[in-house]
Amino acid sequence: MEKLVIEGGKPLYGDVKISGAKNAALPLIAATLLVGGRHHLKNVPDLRDTRTILRLMETMGVVWQRNGDELIIDSSDLKSHEAPYEMVKTMRASVLVLGPLLARLGKAKISLPGGCAIGARPINYHLLGFEKLGVTCNLENGYVEAVIEGRMKGAVIYFDIPSVTATENLLTAAVLAEGTTTIKNAAREPEIGNLIDMLITMGARIEGRGTDKLVVEGVASLNPAQIAIIPDRIEAGTYLIAIAATGGKGKVTHCKPEHLPALLEKLRAAGIIVTENENEIEIDATHMQSEAGFKEVDITTMPYPGYATDLQAQFMALMTMSNGVSVVNETIFENRFMHVAELQRMGADIRINGSRASVKGRGINGLAGAPVMATDLRASSSLVIAGLAASGRTDISRIYHLERGYEFMVEKLRKLGASVWKEKE
Ligand code: EPZ
Repeated sequence: MEKLVIEGGKPLYGDVKISGAKNAALPLIAATLLVGGRHHLKNVPDLRDTRTILRLMETMGVVWQRNGDELIIDSSDLKSHEAPYEMVKTMRASVLVLGPLLARLGKAKISLPGGCAIGARPINYHLLGFEKLGVTCNLENGYVEAVIEGRMKGAVIYFDIPSVTATENLLTAAVLAEGTTTIKNAAREPEIGNLIDMLITMGARIEGRGTDKLVVEGVASLNPAQIAIIPDRIEAGTYLIAIAATGGKGKVTHCKPEHLPALLEKLRAAGIIVTENENEIEIDATHMQSEAGFKEVDITTMPYPGYATDLQAQFMALMTMSNGVSVVNETIFENRFMHVAELQRMGADIRINGSRASVKGRGINGLAGAPVMATDLRASSSLVIAGLAASGRTDISRIYHLERGYEFMVEKLRKLGASVWKEKE
């Protein structure tokens, strides 16, 4: 295994180009199972997770080729409708093949994803939604066997929690169902808008894009997709926080500021200068090099457009360098504070009380480098931010977590002036 080594304490300066969104690429790649033919997806990041779902789909008979950031996917010859445990356990988003397989073949056998570092993460809303559409879901031996004779029938589906992948799964099932499906309390993340745009290019009929009520008129058939993946708002937010945490100045390009409504306000509240242009965000925290530290800011994670849970760990790293006490309230996942113990190894003063963490900032020189361990994707990016800001050397082990969701991270950080490299663990 490899570790990431960072010599910290250097302000980051310059531009960083954002890649396509992991959490859009995964549902959109899965949706190419809906119909045979050659689908063209542009701006697709080359990540551990996108390689995983393509490998899963290859086992089903899908063929694909990558030309730079463009993927051409041909799902004409489906030979299997199964997603085995070995694949699903490495990436729970594999459950996103359920909806398209049920719509195309009327059957699917998917390993239950099981929990992960950040929580139990059940898929009950997915299964309840499919059952509303007429599907029979049998759970046995750790697998879901879902089947329906003929086409699914439109229905009204209500989610107790606006689940992102449940909304995506049910959308891809409903587009080929008979009649109208209404999804109430649907998630509103931008990645769902990207999926809706793709499905509409394929001939689907969907109303309510961007709202919590989606109405789908089922159609009899679809055509192959032509779509571009939206920029990764979580990657963009991660680099904004990294530049700010080092007291640097720079520009995050090829991104959509409107996809980060909460983070940009929270960075401004911390005393950082943030300027939004059409496809880029400028950030300037150079004044923090002389001042006593960032202003303390509270965050509460919420479904979009609230503060993104996927940017909670990163903002906490910043708040360890504030000049007061900030409260981080994680309302989406029950165990998403795995980064706290590692940040404490670097000198952070954090106390956890249930879903809340109180972060007592220690000023801009509050962190010192140390050997730490990545536990999940976003926790690992929080440790990178802390390592960039801390004085001295930080070694981050198990960086395969990082490679799941950040394309060319070492190159992008080096371009910003960071002293960072990989070593054998
Ligand atoms: C998506 O996960 C993202 N993953 C996650 O990003 C993100 O953190 C999450 O949405 C929230 O924004 C992808 O898009 C591939 P949820 P998802 O269903 O869909 C509960 C990353 O770092 N729930 O919106 O799995 C669930 O336990 C990853 O890129 C049920 O109880 O999240 C959680 O508490 C991490 N039953 C809450 O809802 C269900 O059937 C929200 O989860 C489904 C969800």
